[in-house]
Formats: sequence, structure tokens, C-alpha cells
Amino acid sequence: MRIFLDSANIDQIRQAAKLGVISGVTTNPSLVSKEGKVDYQTVIKEICSIVDGSVSAEVVVTEAKAIIEQARELASWAPNVTIKIPVTTDGLQAISVLAKDGISVNMTLCFSLNQAILGALAGASYVSVFVGRLDDVGHDGMAVVKDTVDVFKGYGLKTQIIAASIRHPLHCVAAAKAGAHIATVPYAVLMQMLQHPLTDVGITRFLADWKKVSS
Ligand code: G3P
Repeated sequence: MRIFLDSANIDQIRQAAKLGVISGVTTNPSLVSKEGKVDYQTVIKEICSIVDGSVSAEVVVTEAKAIIEQARELASWAPNVTIKIPVTTDGLQAISVLAKDGISVNMTLCFSLNQAILGALAGASYVSVFVGRLDDVGHDGMAVVKDTVDVFKGYGLKTQIIAASIRHPLHCVAAAKAGAHIATVPYAVLMQMLQHPLTDVGITRFLADWKKVSS
């Protein structure tokens, strides 16, 4: 499983990139707005200069023609921009046109296997299954990821499955076990993945013992 950072915060993206473990970034309008009044193009271009892999930038229009136009504009900002498009009738129309032009699309707000199948058939490079938001309404979000993995494998569909809306480190473990190609994780969760109290205790003990050898 690969890890993307789910953030539009430049400092977090720089810090995470230094660890050498993230191979992409996903943003959405809510994440961008968290950063205050920013210029969208400047933010996306800066993220693309920090991270080599896919950087998802979401369209903020709803009609197919407007989505296609905006997607082409976003795609022109950097070679590694992936266009995030919500799964709607207009979204699917736009995805199929853009995919034929070779533009990478991340179909977002995906909550069911049926939606994921449609995204793959339309030609999306990625489908983002929103695990946490499904859990929030009493559904098993990771079961949708697992079903999608199994069905895509069974039919040889090449679209990559992103476990999104990740809320805690156990979601990352479950996403890996379910066979998600990618988990897109907030910075705080990335840090939680790294931490283990026994690692901290172990380091303290090693350093204390080493002092005895060297003093
Ligand atoms: O990238 C979008 C997704 O991860 C959103 O997460 O926490 O707002 O449900 P959340």
C-alpha cells in the first residue's frame, strides 16, 4: 500500500515529504479553505513542486462542460496534477471525456461499490472511498474498500483504490489488510502511524545503557 497525504498545508506536506514515505497528496475544497484565503493555483503548484507523485486538485463546478473546462485548466498547472471529480452523472460524463484525453482523474465522494465500478468504467485512474464518513453514519467503510478491491481484481480493472477519509491509525492497518492501493492520511494520523511507546522506551534505555559504556 502507498501513502498519500490528505492535506493542503504546505508545512505539513514539506515535513511528510522529508520522511520519504508519501508518494502523493490529496486536497479538497474544505482542506484548501482551512488554509485561509489562498490562491488555489499557487497552493497546488507549490504542492506539486514538493511532491513528485500524484497531487489531487478538486473541481468546484458541477456541470459536465464546466467540469471538463476547469479540469483542463487544473491539469495545465503541473504535470503531476490529478483531477478530483465527484461521482455524479455530470462527473462521470466529464471523467470519460478527460480519461480519453489521458488526464488523470481521482473520482471522489465514493461511498459504494457500484459508484466505484462506474468510476473505473468511465476511466478514472483512482477512486476515493470515504471510509470515515461511511463509519460516521453507521456503515462499514472499510468493507466497501475490501469489496472494491476484490471486484476490481476479479475483473482486472486497473483503477487504483484510495482509502480516504481516514480518521485514525487503525484505519491505515485495515486499509492495508483490505488491499487498498493507497491510503490518503491526514498529517496527524501519519504521525500516529509512526509512534509506539515501546520505541520511545527502547531508545531511552539504549541511550542510558550507552552512557554507562562511554563514561
Ligand atoms: O480527501 C478527502 C477525504 O479524505 C475527506 O476526509 O475526514 O473530511 O471525511 P474527511
